[in-house]
Amino acid sequence: MTTAAVKPLADEVRALARERGAVILAHNYQVPEVQDVADYVGDSLGLSREAAATDARVIVFCGVHFMAETAAILLPDKTVLIPDLDAGCSLAASITAEQLREWKAEHPGAVVVSYVNTSAEVKAETDYCCTSGNAKAVIEAIPQDREILFCPDMFLGMWLERVTGRKLRIWMGECHVHAGIRPADIERWTSATPDAELLVHPECGCASQCMAFGNGRTHILSTEGMVRFAQSSPKERFLVATETGILHRLHKEVPGKRFEAVSERAICKYMKLITLEKLRDSLRDWKHVVAVEPAIAERARGAIERMVAIA
Ligand code: 13P
Ligand code: SF4
Repeated sequence: MTTAAVKPLADEVRALARERGAVILAHNYQVPEVQDVADYVGDSLGLSREAAATDARVIVFCGVHFMAETAAILLPDKTVLIPDLDAGCSLAASITAEQLREWKAEHPGAVVVSYVNTSAEVKAETDYCCTSGNAKAVIEAIPQDREILFCPDMFLGMWLERVTGRKLRIWMGECHVHAGIRPADIERWTSATPDAELLVHPECGCASQCMAFGNGRTHILSTEGMVRFAQSSPKERFLVATETGILHRLHKEVPGKRFEAVSERAICKYMKLITLEKLRDSLRDWKHVVAVEPAIAERARGAIERMVAIA
């Protein structure tokens, strides 16, 4: 969008949000103009915490469906809106509640840890949810002698095995965007830019291999972790292995440093379904309300509350 087109629309969104008593939450992968109009921009964990703490009556979730659903489960008395109902997630779609029930039946007594990128029905079958921001701490909170089923992201699961030293049973799901960032992308960049730090999201297919580089300049981080790391690092140049929407936030909040995507193809079409126009329509026309069946929400809430509580 051109700057001239953004300004009146952004003003309209802010006015409607005030009128509606709404807070606008946006994920780090949202398009720049949506990030810029939001009250809070962050990763999955930060967004869940922000939703849990808000006084606003209405939450407009600029992200994908499972994120809005997570807020709706945490806050059954508030209205949660998502500007486009088709904003799904290929990773969340990689396991169903039925599949999880069958897996649990094969491993009675195992603790189920689900990544937050899952449906409400899967969360209802889960003991602990986690995000990339606290997955290690969640695994470490579970007694050593308990068997753990981890779903649905295999690359995050493999990375967790390495950093915790725990053996996990891992569901073979993946995010098509992060799985598409290949070890070759990383190698090409790291050899061409020996002065750059490498920031890698644990959903990447290359995350476990990156750790094996052991070069001291590779850091496996959630999207929020990337922003914090770049802010506090004395280094000037960073290669980023995640969805490219994070670059807007990095440029904005860490000015003067250099950030490059290791793969320009790493674009989540679901995240990009949310536009400023749809956000305006959502607030103006009260759509789309995200509601979770109360019985499912009741069973899913404990796992999400545990996630929000573990740092
Ligand atoms: P973060 O929680 O690190 O922002 O990741 C969310 C996500 O969907 C990654 O693809
Ligand atoms: Fe889902 Fe991948 Fe998009 Fe994140 S980037 S929302 S995991 S499809």
